[in-house]
Amino acid sequence: MVKVGLLGLGTVGTGTAQILLDPDGRHPLLQDLELHRVGVRSLEKTRTVPLPSGCLTTDLKSIVTDPAVDIVVELLGGLEPARSLLLEAIAHGKHIVTANKAVIARYGDQLFTAANQQGVYVMLEAAVGGGIPVIQPLKQSLGANRIHTVIGIVNGTTNYILTRMQQEGGDFQDILVDAQRLGYAEADPTADVDGLDAADKIAILASLAFGRRIKLDQVHCEGIRQVGAADITYAQKLGFVIKLLAIARKPEYASSKIANLEVPELEVRVHPTLVPHSHPLASISGVHNAILVEGEPLGQVMFFGPGAGAGPTASAVVSDMINVASLLKLGVTGPDIANTGLHPLMACSHQHYAAVAPVEELITRFYARFLTQDQPGVIGKLGTCFGDHHVSLESIVQTGTQKNLAEIVVVTHHVREGNFHQALEQIRTLAAIDSIPTLLRVL
Ligand SMILES: NC(=O)c1ccc[n+]([C@@H]2O[C@H](COP(=O)([O-])OP(=O)(O)OC[C@H]3O[C@@H](n4cnc5c(N)ncnc54)[C@H](OP(=O)(O)O)[C@@H]3O)[C@@H](O)[C@H]2O)c1
Repeated sequence: MVKVGLLGLGTVGTGTAQILLDPDGRHPLLQDLELHRVGVRSLEKTRTVPLPSGCLTTDLKSIVTDPAVDIVVELLGGLEPARSLLLEAIAHGKHIVTANKAVIARYGDQLFTAANQQGVYVMLEAAVGGGIPVIQPLKQSLGANRIHTVIGIVNGTTNYILTRMQQEGGDFQDILVDAQRLGYAEADPTADVDGLDAADKIAILASLAFGRRIKLDQVHCEGIRQVGAADITYAQKLGFVIKLLAIARKPEYASSKIANLEVPELEVRVHPTLVPHSHPLASISGVHNAILVEGEPLGQVMFFGPGAGAGPTASAVVSDMINVASLLKLGVTGPDIANTGLHPLMACSHQHYAAVAPVEELITRFYARFLTQDQPGVIGKLGTCFGDHHVSLESIVQTGTQKNLAEIVVVTHHVREGNFHQALEQIRTLAAIDSIPTLLRVL
């Protein structure tokens, strides 16, 4: 039997234990997985899953050092003690399965380096997209492709809020409060609405798709707080929906040198984006997630499904456990690793960092909403400022008035982001400009 030490018996831990304790009709390898020990914070809580007697403990360190445990499944969340326990488990030769995107995005380099030295696997299917299989496909099934773009809707909370804003015409703050009441948003929504959770996830996806480690602080990140009901309406009229997109792609123009290797620069970013109605990601609504991967020769493939929840996330966790169990069964881990190495389709062995392109170099289209004095000539002045910085405009229209101010919406052609911001600096000095409530990129 393959003995499992489970850290955490909350939402995902409970879903995972339920599958392990009820293997009938699922993959036969589940019969080989035994829930050996379970670590939690409190022994007083009522547990809804019938655990084997005596397996529950608050001493998590004793699980990661237990000689009988083969796989440590970390479903605690947060950075500590999760990171330290994972490193200790690896040092004790345990294989790791985790759903913890925050730890992987920040400490993946430590964890993978330690795991590769120890000859153990770190599996993270559940860390991105909940129940959607996307990590193993990037590691295995898409290996023939030169991947050039990964674009995802990878945060269910923000997609739920934006979908409701689109359907009901409400303002961000009101819908956030209602989403919190209904349990779709956390009491502290920062990680979701400010794009930080999506940044963790795109850093992980980018590292797998492009075979390079990503420094999280180089991921440009903007959340959805700036998106107003007016923007949703104008976007709709212009043929777009607004989505929080996590994007990693190879720009066509760039390459740079790292450690004397020619490596392509990557763009890795998270921001609310106007997505054309015809785009496959435009129809992803509510809490669902989707990840679109583009490569040569495959073209586009999209992974879609439930991005969270006990059952779906546990499905991804258990799939990792089955993969590790299959290798254990073949004897291609542990002492044999010294001869064979880790399975190349299961391990993350890349060590070089990607050169992440500065956001000023991004070539994109922009949408901007201006509030200005309601007087003649303002549109002309805006056009001149943009022209001075080589920003060519696709459209510029006065869309209405708000509290005696004119509302003007601009959509640009593809421009260098740095030029666009220089034009905005000049525009902010114009006496007629009251404010620029929204700046969004257009896909
Ligand atoms: N929830 C989802 O839909 C979802 C989706 C994708 C990924 N994830 C990821 O899955 C992981 C788990 O999420 P979750 O929603 O299942 O969390 P959760 O419901 O808050 O459960 C956390 C579990 O860990 C235990 N725990 C936390 N800190 C501990 C500590 N210091 N010592 C001992 N036990 C501790 C808790 O013990 P007690 O039970 O005693 O409090 C609880 O059983 C996170 O990394 C999360 O990002 C979750």
